[in-house]
Amino acid sequence: MGDSGANSATAVGADLHLDLAGRRGRGELVQALHESISSGRLAPGTRLPSSRTLAKDLGVARNTVADAYGQLVAEGWLTARQGSGTEVASRETPSPVPRTPLPEAKKFRYDLTPGTPDLSTFPRGEWLAAARKALPSAPNEAFGYGDPRGRIELRRTLADYLARARGVRADPELILVCSGYVQALSLLGAVLRAQGAKSLSVEEFGYDLHWDVIRSRGLEPVPIAVDEHGVRAELLSGEAALLTPAHQMPTGVPLAPHRRTAAVEWARSTGAVLIEDDYDGEFRYDRQTVGALQALDPERVVYTGTASKSLAPGLRLAWMVVPQRLMEPVLAAKRTADLQTATLDQLTLAEFIASGYYDRHVRRSRLHYRRRRDRLVELLAVRAPGVRVAGIAAGMHVLLDVPGDAQDMVDRAARQGLQVASLDRYRFTSDPSARQALVVGYGTPPDHSYAGALDLLCQVLSV
Ligand SMILES: Cc1ncc(COP(=O)(O)O)c(C=O)c1O
Repeated sequence: MGDSGANSATAVGADLHLDLAGRRGRGELVQALHESISSGRLAPGTRLPSSRTLAKDLGVARNTVADAYGQLVAEGWLTARQGSGTEVASRETPSPVPRTPLPEAKKFRYDLTPGTPDLSTFPRGEWLAAARKALPSAPNEAFGYGDPRGRIELRRTLADYLARARGVRADPELILVCSGYVQALSLLGAVLRAQGAKSLSVEEFGYDLHWDVIRSRGLEPVPIAVDEHGVRAELLSGEAALLTPAHQMPTGVPLAPHRRTAAVEWARSTGAVLIEDDYDGEFRYDRQTVGALQALDPERVVYTGTASKSLAPGLRLAWMVVPQRLMEPVLAAKRTADLQTATLDQLTLAEFIASGYYDRHVRRSRLHYRRRRDRLVELLAVRAPGVRVAGIAAGMHVLLDVPGDAQDMVDRAARQGLQVASLDRYRFTSDPSARQALVVGYGTPPDHSYAGALDLLCQVLSV
């Protein structure tokens, strides 16, 4: 690309912001560079643009920049070496703002807490192949501001997939792609609150993060008891309810058919909204697939799904199938939250599903986690026979009813480098004397450390 005039910027080189007000002589340039370096904004080792590039960018003579650089080199602020350009010199930089250290998460050798799939199995090659296919064929408008619901390519493939694999009644027009389930919950919370809702039923076991999201939207989460049939639907109250019908988190029970009907009946008769969190519906190991509750009444149930378990939480990709009457306010909330979810990964995911990679990955993962679960159950039967294993039919975690104090075991495990959680950690109102159980996420460790993690777990359980 050629220059279009003496004052035009050059396309080659790096940008450098300098606070230059008014005159742009050598003195001002020296001062601006000096301030940028001494404040720490330009760190030691930062490479400056060539004098030619900076002169063009600033619209000054090249000699002005060369002289300013020369002076700062002489003063020791910059170093100039043949072939490697001009850099900010290394020296003791006083930290401009005193930093309060963030609390550091304790590092464990082994992690058996639930929530994260085995990240080492992320299908990098297939994801890349999907991106390679999706990107060149994407229309230009895909890189611009678009529909806050998300890319139509993804909404179409999701509608097909959800109908086929999860029994959802899905219309691409009523799907909204969002940044994780957390955002879905946040948007729905805002909409419900704006419509006058005050409280929302939640299962007595779950994630405090999700309860915090609800509170942050001005709604009060009200815990509802969970038993061996799932949440006690006859106790639901408030203007909405948050449920994990396919696989209660973390007790692992599916919502029994009579409870499903009761929950939908409750929503119909009171005008409440059911929010279905289908976070790991793909992972069932018995042949009894548990379809989406949403199919019972798409006008009363908001279905939400996520790529966080089936692929990786780092993608921050989730989707909701929204009842027609809620679509407009949910869209308005999405617009003010972030306009739209980043489009490029949406296009890749659409291609990933359409190419059959998603099904293949889910089936592979199902086998992977099922083997891990079997190994865990077999080992416990031998090394910790007093422990009862529950919730084995689905997901990536089980519940271990332990003979002793669960928190003692958690603490003992932590001292030996194993992170594991007690059931009480997931209880809305902590009750350390209630059911003594551990929640063991067997999905998280990479293969090479799974045996070590299980061995430590068995040691802790058998004391
Ligand atoms: C119960 C439950 N819901 C939802 C999610 C997914 O959340 P997100 O999509 O925000 O990563 C998880 C992930 O761990 C979960 O355990």
